[in-house]
Amino acid sequence: MPRDRRDYFYKKAKDEGYRSRAAFKLKQINEKFKIITKGDAVVDLGAAPGGWLQVAKELSEGKVVGVDILPIEKMEGVETIKGDIRLDATVEKIREKTNKEGADAVICDAAPNLTGNWSYDHARSIDLATSALECAKKILKPGGKFAVKVFQGDLFPDFLDKVRQSFVKVKAFSPEASRKQSAEIYVIGRELLSGAVKMDEEYTVTIEDIGASGDGIAKINDFVVFVKNTKKGEKLKIRIRFVKPNFAFGERIEQD
Ligand SMILES: C[S@@+](CC[C@H](N)C(=O)[O-])C[C@H]1O[C@@H](n2cnc3c(N)ncnc32)[C@H](O)[C@@H]1O
Repeated sequence: MPRDRRDYFYKKAKDEGYRSRAAFKLKQINEKFKIITKGDAVVDLGAAPGGWLQVAKELSEGKVVGVDILPIEKMEGVETIKGDIRLDATVEKIREKTNKEGADAVICDAAPNLTGNWSYDHARSIDLATSALECAKKILKPGGKFAVKVFQGDLFPDFLDKVRQSFVKVKAFSPEASRKQSAEIYVIGRELLSGAVKMDEEYTVTIEDIGASGDGIAKINDFVVFVKNTKKGEKLKIRIRFVKPNFAFGERIEQD
């Protein structure tokens, strides 16, 4: 490994025609977590100058939308939006571009302009990452994937918890292409939960059918919930114990 990784990846990006050295961070994130696969519709938040957009296009060969406060120089096969990701109006524009189906992956490398005041910069980074998470929840398909940059600090554990509430698998990852002394870390969320039911919430349901495994099948807003030891037609109160993107398991807490 070269001594100065910053120069190494800077030169590598120039040699290979990437708009930024950050391109290699996305490649390394993707090698480990496969957040972008062929055919995926990808939205890149905080995308200028466009290194991540180039990599996203190579990996997906599908629809790629880039968003930034700054203009993004034209790139073949990539649509761009000039806007602030913290604003609903920008999220609305993204939704128009990703149509009704939504995106398979939302990636965000947005960073505030650094002031040198560590707590302030950290708080602004968390604010941007939280906006990216809210945007991802609105535009991702159920089961969708998310990667976001955050500067570590006191507010990081709370942010990680928020991501955990919305995705089945969540990891924090520091790619080799990040500078050694950098406090940046990427939070990777996979399998977006649909939001139809919430962990530990109580619901009253009716068992509509019995599945092949013998579990009762109830539906909450068309979302399938399996409940053990029930009979078809039975109405009961359950608590959600396990949630996956397309189904959940509930536990009986009381019988009517
Ligand atoms: C590190 S750069 C992204 C580099 C990019 N991933 C690449 O590979 O070229 C961070 C970007 O976040 C953008 N940004 C910061 N705050 C933003 C906001 N509120 N809305 C949209 N973009 C924002 C900045 O303008 C900047 O272009």
